[in-house]
Amino acid sequence: MKFFVDSADVEEIGELADSGLIDGVTTNPSLIAKSGRNFLDVIKEICSIIDGPVSAEVTALDAPTMLEEAKVLRGLAPNIAIKVPLTWDGLKACKVLSDEGTMVNVTLCFSATQALLAAKAGATFISPFIGRLDDMGLDGMELIEEIREIYDNYPKLETEILAASIRSVGHVKQSALIGADVATVPASVIKQLAKHPLTDKGLDAFMKDWETTGQTIL
Ligand code: G3P
Repeated sequence: MKFFVDSADVEEIGELADSGLIDGVTTNPSLIAKSGRNFLDVIKEICSIIDGPVSAEVTALDAPTMLEEAKVLRGLAPNIAIKVPLTWDGLKACKVLSDEGTMVNVTLCFSATQALLAAKAGATFISPFIGRLDDMGLDGMELIEEIREIYDNYPKLETEILAASIRSVGHVKQSALIGADVATVPASVIKQLAKHPLTDKGLDAFMKDWETTGQTIL
């Protein structure tokens, strides 16, 4: 499973990228607003520290303007994935961009039929939003399961399932069990993935016992 960081905070992305465990980044207009910085500058900086796909979202609502914006964003770096919303115009823009060989991430997906259309439009990634469905009392994981089943029924569809709006370690685990190709995860949750109280407790005990030997390795 690939891990993307869901963030527009260049510092936290850089820190995680140092681990060598990060395969890409996703941003959205809300994350850019939270950064308080210039969109194009932030994207350029992220692309300079991450080799994998970096999603940058168009903000127009009509396909022709989306394509104009995509031209600007694509010019920032070779690893840009253009993020378009799952609207009819977004799908039209997706088809044009993917036919041209541009990576496209179709975002704001809340149903399996939306995901099927995005795959037909040649999306590189489909982003089903798990947390926002859970927020409404629905089951975000059920959507990931349905999309996995549908895509597996049609092996010619090459779109990768990018589990998004992930809020917890459990969301990452469930997405991996179902077989999502990618999870885009906030930095805080990525760090939690490595944590277990028994690991901390066990390490504590090992360190105490090691100290009693009076030895060093170096
Ligand atoms: O990748 C999409 C993600 O940023 C949305 O997450 O937590 O705002 O629903 P959230």
